Amino acid sequence: MNDKLVWAKKSTFILAATGSAIGLGNLWKFPYMVGENGGGAFVLVYLVCVLLIGLPVMMSETIVGKYSHGNAIDAIAKTAKRSNASQLWKGTAVMGMVAIFVILSFYSVIAGWALDYTYHFVTGELTGKSVDEVKRFFDTLLADPKRQILWHGLFMFLTAAIIARGAQEGIEKSLGIMMPLLFVLLLAIVGYSMLATGRFNETFEYMFSMDFSKVTPMVVINAMGQAFFSLSLGMCVIMTYAAYMRKDVSITESSLYITALDTVMALLAGLAIFPIVFANDMSAGAGPGLLFVTLSTAFAQMGTVGMILGITFFFLVIIAALSSSISMVEPFVKWFEERFGLSRFATTFTYCLVVWAFGLLSLLSFNIWADVDVLGTGKNPFDLLDFITSSILLPLGGLLISLYVGWAMDKTISREQLFSLNGFFFTLWLVIMRFIVPVLIGLVFLSSILGEEKMTAIINTIID
Ligand code: PHE
Repeated sequence: MNDKLVWAKKSTFILAATGSAIGLGNLWKFPYMVGENGGGAFVLVYLVCVLLIGLPVMMSETIVGKYSHGNAIDAIAKTAKRSNASQLWKGTAVMGMVAIFVILSFYSVIAGWALDYTYHFVTGELTGKSVDEVKRFFDTLLADPKRQILWHGLFMFLTAAIIARGAQEGIEKSLGIMMPLLFVLLLAIVGYSMLATGRFNETFEYMFSMDFSKVTPMVVINAMGQAFFSLSLGMCVIMTYAAYMRKDVSITESSLYITALDTVMALLAGLAIFPIVFANDMSAGAGPGLLFVTLSTAFAQMGTVGMILGITFFFLVIIAALSSSISMVEPFVKWFEERFGLSRFATTFTYCLVVWAFGLLSLLSFNIWADVDVLGTGKNPFDLLDFITSSILLPLGGLLISLYVGWAMDKTISREQLFSLNGFFFTLWLVIMRFIVPVLIGLVFLSSILGEEKMTAIINTIID
């Protein structure tokens, strides 16, 4: 047990939290959500959500972690004790850990698809394929449990191999290589898209022309959910990384960097992907198939250049996913290690094995269990787990953290921790945490429970 361990370098908290934040959420989900939610309107609302909710919540999680220097459960226990608040708030961290356990179990399956695509771009098998053929390739992958089990297993193994080596030796060192590589690869693809496709203006127009009539309540709700997911908030991941933070590092400044970098990467992913999609006369509104069918077909149609782009792009997706998946394992491993004093190596591999096995529920939902209806919900296991995490546990986690830090936790803790903020901005931060964040998240939460139609109707009645 080493609860005073800190990152070797000052910049590592930013690096690690950014690594956690940048992932499938930026490269896969953000672009297709832009496509599905009306382009520029979604981008604008997303930016507002990041600034108004994402940034203050990021600061809050960081405060709790940095103050306590321990795992997320103990971090809440320690701050609650000093604040004379109920120890029941620890439930927030427990819930966060349950959420990332489930998210990781299917995140790894999807990252496994990227491994499969990288492999098949390398062998040249995808090159030259038409849309229908790529679609069939994707469907065949989804229909094949054995193939996916292998890639899902490999991805979980890579994650475990990094985490088992510890915070400094594993996380810090691997991110020192992965993160620069990630930026360079993405910039290379953006560079290509900008110079070679001739569709940059169209993309710019598509992503940044603000058509306010397209801003519906559902767009706002989707954008907020996406901001939470993309910034890794509400699940005690940032809190856990903040526990390794050095005393002299500013929370405000770090949070600003992390939120900005994550947002820039999401926008860059759009600028990398859409020009290639447009140049190949395809639609941006393809939903989750945007990467695995639309973009991949574009690569397949582009000969050798497409092959190189395909390998680069899916390798990039793997690195981004890996820098996120390790952040989903660390909270549990850190807690278990500190609580029971067991070996980090054994804890990590056992935990990852359990996550892998649980992931089979989702994996099989893409094939043999596709039509299984769990407990009459009308959803197969994957759809249900996805719904429970992104629509219930995530907003609930965010809500609890904002209520805890805004109301239950002693204000003097945040005041000490946010030493670099002046009085005005501190008050602004506190007001946002106390009132704005809970109300907005509460709305998201309600909408996910009531469903899109009812919620839109209610909001429209209120507006009228
Ligand atoms: N933020 C990551 C992404 O955008 C996903 C993630 C969620 C990571 C929750 C950690 C915790 O892909």
